Amino acid sequence: MSRIPLIAGNWKMNKTVAEAEQFIQALLPKLYATDGADVALCVPYLDLEAMVDSTRGSRVEVYAQNMHEAPNGAYTGEISAAMLTEIDVHGAVLGHSERRQYFGETDKALALKVPAALDAGLKVILCVGETEEERENGETERRLRHQVQEGLEKLDTDRLGEVVIAYEPVWAIGTGLTATPEQAQDALSFVRALVADRSKEQAARTRILYGGSMNAENAAELLALPDCDGGLIGGASLDPAKFVPIVEAAV
Ligand code: G3H
Repeated sequence: MSRIPLIAGNWKMNKTVAEAEQFIQALLPKLYATDGADVALCVPYLDLEAMVDSTRGSRVEVYAQNMHEAPNGAYTGEISAAMLTEIDVHGAVLGHSERRQYFGETDKALALKVPAALDAGLKVILCVGETEEERENGETERRLRHQVQEGLEKLDTDRLGEVVIAYEPVWAIGTGLTATPEQAQDALSFVRALVADRSKEQAARTRILYGGSMNAENAAELLALPDCDGGLIGGASLDPAKFVPIVEAAV
Protein backbone atom coordinates (compact mmCIF):
# COMPACT_ATOMS: atom_id res chain seq x y z
CA MET A 1 0.00 0.00 0.00
CA SER A 2 1.35 3.42 -0.85
CA ARG A 3 1.31 5.91 1.97
CA ILE A 4 1.52 9.65 1.31
CA PRO A 5 4.57 11.02 3.12
CA LEU A 6 4.01 13.60 5.84
CA ILE A 7 6.57 16.22 6.76
CA ALA A 8 5.55 17.90 10.00
CA GLY A 9 7.45 20.79 11.53
CA ASN A 10 7.27 21.10 15.30
CA TRP A 11 8.11 24.62 16.33
CA LYS A 12 8.03 23.75 20.04
CA MET A 13 8.08 27.02 22.08
CA ASN A 14 9.30 29.19 19.22
CA LYS A 15 7.80 32.04 17.17
CA THR A 16 5.49 34.83 18.22
CA VAL A 17 2.48 35.46 15.99
CA ALA A 18 4.43 38.10 14.07
CA GLU A 19 7.34 35.72 13.54
CA ALA A 20 4.98 32.93 12.54
CA GLU A 21 3.31 35.18 9.94
CA GLN A 22 6.70 36.06 8.51
CA PHE A 23 7.60 32.37 8.26
CA ILE A 24 4.37 31.48 6.43
CA GLN A 25 4.71 34.29 3.92
CA ALA A 26 8.20 32.99 3.11
CA LEU A 27 7.19 29.33 3.12
CA LEU A 28 4.06 29.18 0.96
CA PRO A 29 5.60 30.32 -2.36
CA LYS A 30 8.45 27.83 -1.88
CA LEU A 31 6.16 24.80 -1.65
CA TYR A 32 5.10 24.86 -5.30
CA ALA A 33 7.21 21.79 -6.23
CA THR A 34 6.19 19.59 -3.34
CA ASP A 35 2.88 18.05 -4.42
CA GLY A 36 2.89 14.47 -3.26
CA ALA A 37 3.79 15.13 0.37
CA ASP A 38 1.52 16.30 3.15
CA VAL A 39 2.87 19.24 5.13
CA ALA A 40 1.95 20.19 8.69
CA LEU A 41 3.16 22.70 11.23
CA CYS A 42 2.74 22.07 14.96
CA VAL A 43 2.70 25.53 16.48
CA PRO A 44 2.29 27.11 19.94
CA TYR A 45 -1.32 27.60 21.05
CA LEU A 46 -1.23 31.37 20.63
CA ASP A 47 -0.09 31.05 17.00
CA LEU A 48 -2.83 28.59 16.03
CA GLU A 49 -5.60 30.91 14.93
CA ALA A 50 -3.32 33.19 12.90
CA MET A 51 -1.62 30.20 11.26
CA VAL A 52 -4.93 28.56 10.36
CA ASP A 53 -6.02 31.81 8.71
CA SER A 54 -2.72 32.37 6.90
CA THR A 55 -2.56 28.83 5.52
CA ARG A 56 -6.23 28.54 4.49
CA GLY A 57 -6.43 27.25 0.92
CA SER A 58 -2.81 26.06 0.98
CA ARG A 59 -1.44 22.53 1.50
CA VAL A 60 -0.16 23.31 4.97
CA GLU A 61 -2.13 21.89 7.89
CA VAL A 62 -1.87 23.37 11.36
CA TYR A 63 -1.52 21.22 14.48
CA ALA A 64 -1.46 21.97 18.20
CA GLN A 65 1.35 20.58 20.33
CA ASN A 66 -0.87 19.09 23.03
CA MET A 67 -4.52 18.72 24.00
CA HIS A 68 -6.41 17.66 27.13
CA GLU A 69 -8.50 14.51 26.96
CA ALA A 70 -11.53 15.93 28.82
CA PRO A 71 -14.22 17.85 26.92
CA ASN A 72 -14.04 20.69 29.47
CA GLY A 73 -13.62 21.19 33.20
CA ALA A 74 -11.34 22.37 35.98
CA TYR A 75 -7.98 21.84 34.24
CA THR A 76 -6.18 25.15 34.55
CA GLY A 77 -3.86 25.87 31.65
CA GLU A 78 -5.26 23.16 29.40
CA ILE A 79 -6.94 23.22 25.97
CA SER A 80 -9.75 20.90 24.77
CA ALA A 81 -10.35 19.32 21.38
CA ALA A 82 -13.44 21.50 20.85
CA MET A 83 -11.37 24.64 21.38
CA LEU A 84 -9.03 23.47 18.62
CA THR A 85 -11.69 22.41 16.13
CA GLU A 86 -13.67 25.63 16.67
CA ILE A 87 -10.82 27.55 15.06
CA ASP A 88 -10.28 24.89 12.34
CA VAL A 89 -7.05 23.42 13.70
CA HIS A 90 -6.38 20.18 11.78
CA GLY A 91 -4.68 18.04 14.39
CA ALA A 92 -2.52 17.65 17.45
CA VAL A 93 0.87 16.15 18.16
CA LEU A 94 0.52 14.10 21.33
CA GLY A 95 3.04 12.52 23.69
CA HIS A 96 6.11 14.37 22.50
CA SER A 97 9.09 13.33 24.60
CA GLU A 98 9.42 16.88 25.92
CA ARG A 99 5.83 16.68 27.23
CA ARG A 100 6.64 13.30 28.76
CA GLN A 101 9.96 14.45 30.25
CA TYR A 102 9.14 17.95 31.54
CA PHE A 103 5.37 17.95 32.00
CA GLY A 104 4.55 14.47 33.25
CA GLU A 105 2.67 13.27 30.15
CA THR A 106 1.77 9.61 30.70
CA ASP A 107 0.81 6.73 28.43
CA LYS A 108 -2.39 6.44 30.47
CA ALA A 109 -3.39 10.01 29.56
CA LEU A 110 -2.37 9.45 25.95
CA ALA A 111 -4.63 6.40 25.76
CA LEU A 112 -7.51 8.82 26.41
CA LYS A 113 -6.18 11.73 24.36
CA VAL A 114 -5.78 9.77 21.11
CA PRO A 115 -9.44 8.67 20.74
CA ALA A 116 -10.70 11.99 22.14
CA ALA A 117 -8.79 13.87 19.44
CA LEU A 118 -9.90 11.57 16.60
CA ASP A 119 -13.52 11.60 17.78
CA ALA A 120 -13.42 15.40 17.65
CA GLY A 121 -12.19 15.28 14.05
CA LEU A 122 -8.56 16.09 14.77
CA LYS A 123 -5.68 14.25 13.16
CA VAL A 124 -3.12 12.79 15.56
CA ILE A 125 0.64 12.37 15.56
CA LEU A 126 1.55 10.14 18.53
CA CYS A 127 5.22 10.35 19.54
CA VAL A 128 7.19 7.44 20.92
CA GLY A 129 10.90 6.83 21.47
CA GLU A 130 13.55 5.53 23.83
CA THR A 131 16.07 7.47 25.89
CA GLU A 132 19.82 7.02 25.50
CA GLU A 133 19.93 4.99 28.70
CA GLU A 134 17.14 2.69 27.51
CA ARG A 135 18.95 2.10 24.20
CA GLU A 136 22.23 1.37 25.99
CA ASN A 137 20.46 -1.08 28.29
CA GLY A 138 18.86 -2.91 25.37
CA GLU A 139 15.41 -1.67 26.37
CA THR A 140 14.42 0.11 23.15
CA GLU A 141 11.84 -2.46 22.06
CA ARG A 142 10.36 -2.81 25.53
CA ARG A 143 9.93 0.96 25.71
CA LEU A 144 8.40 1.26 22.24
CA ARG A 145 6.07 -1.68 22.89
CA HIS A 146 4.79 -0.05 26.05
CA GLN A 147 4.28 3.38 24.47
CA VAL A 148 2.59 2.12 21.30
CA GLN A 149 0.39 -0.49 22.96
CA GLU A 150 -0.73 1.72 25.81
CA GLY A 151 -1.10 4.91 23.75
CA LEU A 152 -3.39 3.14 21.27
CA GLU A 153 -5.07 0.87 23.78
CA LYS A 154 -8.49 2.53 23.82
CA LEU A 155 -8.67 3.15 20.09
CA ASP A 156 -10.92 0.91 18.00
CA THR A 157 -8.82 -1.39 15.86
CA ASP A 158 -10.40 -0.17 12.63
CA ARG A 159 -9.19 3.38 13.41
CA LEU A 160 -5.53 2.50 14.09
CA GLY A 161 -4.44 3.50 10.60
CA GLU A 162 -5.70 7.04 11.15
CA VAL A 163 -3.00 7.71 13.71
CA VAL A 164 0.42 8.87 12.56
CA ILE A 165 3.15 7.54 14.85
CA ALA A 166 6.40 9.48 15.14
CA TYR A 167 9.39 7.46 16.25
CA GLU A 168 11.79 9.89 17.89
CA PRO A 169 14.81 8.51 19.74
CA VAL A 170 15.10 10.98 22.62
CA TRP A 171 18.90 11.00 22.33
CA ALA A 172 18.63 12.31 18.76
CA ILE A 173 16.28 15.22 19.52
CA GLY A 174 17.96 18.58 19.19
CA THR A 175 21.40 16.98 19.64
CA GLY A 176 22.61 16.86 16.05
CA LEU A 177 22.86 13.07 16.50
CA THR A 178 20.72 11.10 14.10
CA ALA A 179 19.81 7.44 14.29
CA THR A 180 21.70 5.50 11.64
CA PRO A 181 19.46 4.34 8.80
CA GLU A 182 19.70 0.82 10.23
CA GLN A 183 18.71 1.90 13.75
CA ALA A 184 15.87 3.98 12.37
CA GLN A 185 14.54 1.23 10.09
CA ASP A 186 14.70 -1.36 12.90
CA ALA A 187 12.65 0.89 15.19
CA LEU A 188 10.20 2.00 12.49
CA SER A 189 9.51 -1.56 11.37
CA PHE A 190 9.18 -2.65 15.00
CA VAL A 191 6.55 0.06 15.55
CA ARG A 192 4.66 -1.10 12.44
CA ALA A 193 4.81 -4.70 13.68
CA LEU A 194 3.26 -3.56 16.98
CA VAL A 195 0.32 -2.07 15.09
CA ALA A 196 0.16 -5.24 12.95
CA ASP A 197 -0.25 -7.30 16.13
CA ARG A 198 -3.75 -5.77 16.25
CA SER A 199 -4.40 -5.46 12.50
CA LYS A 200 -2.14 -6.10 9.54
CA GLU A 201 -4.45 -4.06 7.32
CA GLN A 202 -4.31 -1.05 9.63
CA ALA A 203 -0.53 -1.38 10.00
CA ALA A 204 -0.17 -1.13 6.23
CA ARG A 205 -2.11 2.16 6.34
CA THR A 206 -0.30 3.65 9.34
CA ARG A 207 2.15 6.41 8.57
CA ILE A 208 5.26 6.21 10.73
CA LEU A 209 7.60 9.18 10.86
CA TYR A 210 11.20 9.51 11.97
CA GLY A 211 12.16 12.47 14.16
CA GLY A 212 15.46 13.51 15.69
CA SER A 213 17.87 15.96 14.07
CA MET A 214 16.44 15.38 10.60
CA ASN A 215 17.73 18.04 8.21
CA ALA A 216 18.23 18.82 4.54
CA GLU A 217 21.41 16.73 4.45
CA ASN A 218 20.17 13.49 6.01
CA ALA A 219 16.47 13.61 5.03
CA ALA A 220 16.68 11.76 1.70
CA GLU A 221 18.44 8.75 3.22
CA LEU A 222 16.02 8.48 6.14
CA LEU A 223 12.92 9.08 4.02
CA ALA A 224 13.98 6.29 1.65
CA LEU A 225 13.75 3.68 4.41
CA PRO A 226 10.97 1.16 3.69
CA ASP A 227 9.03 1.94 6.87
CA CYS A 228 9.67 5.69 6.97
CA ASP A 229 6.63 7.69 5.87
CA GLY A 230 7.92 11.13 6.68
CA GLY A 231 9.55 13.21 9.36
CA LEU A 232 8.79 15.20 12.48
CA ILE A 233 11.20 18.09 12.30
CA GLY A 234 12.17 20.37 15.18
CA GLY A 235 15.10 22.76 14.70
CA ALA A 236 15.13 22.58 10.90
CA SER A 237 11.44 23.54 10.74
CA LEU A 238 12.08 27.03 12.07
CA ASP A 239 13.54 28.36 8.83
CA PRO A 240 11.76 27.89 5.47
CA ALA A 241 15.15 27.58 3.73
CA LYS A 242 15.93 24.52 5.89
CA PHE A 243 12.41 23.09 6.01
CA VAL A 244 11.48 23.16 2.31
CA PRO A 245 14.38 20.92 1.16
CA ILE A 246 13.15 18.27 3.60
CA VAL A 247 9.66 18.45 2.08
CA GLU A 248 11.24 18.25 -1.38
CA ALA A 249 13.19 15.15 -0.33
CA ALA A 250 9.90 13.44 0.54
CA VAL A 251 8.30 13.74 -2.91
O1 G3H B 1 9.39 17.25 17.29
C1 G3H B 1 10.49 17.24 16.76
C2 G3H B 1 11.56 16.48 17.31
O2 G3H B 1 11.62 16.62 18.68
C3 G3H B 1 12.87 16.62 16.61
O3 G3H B 1 13.52 17.81 16.97
O4 G3H B 1 14.64 18.04 14.76
O5 G3H B 1 15.23 19.56 16.66
O6 G3H B 1 15.90 17.15 16.70
P1 G3H B 1 14.91 18.15 16.22
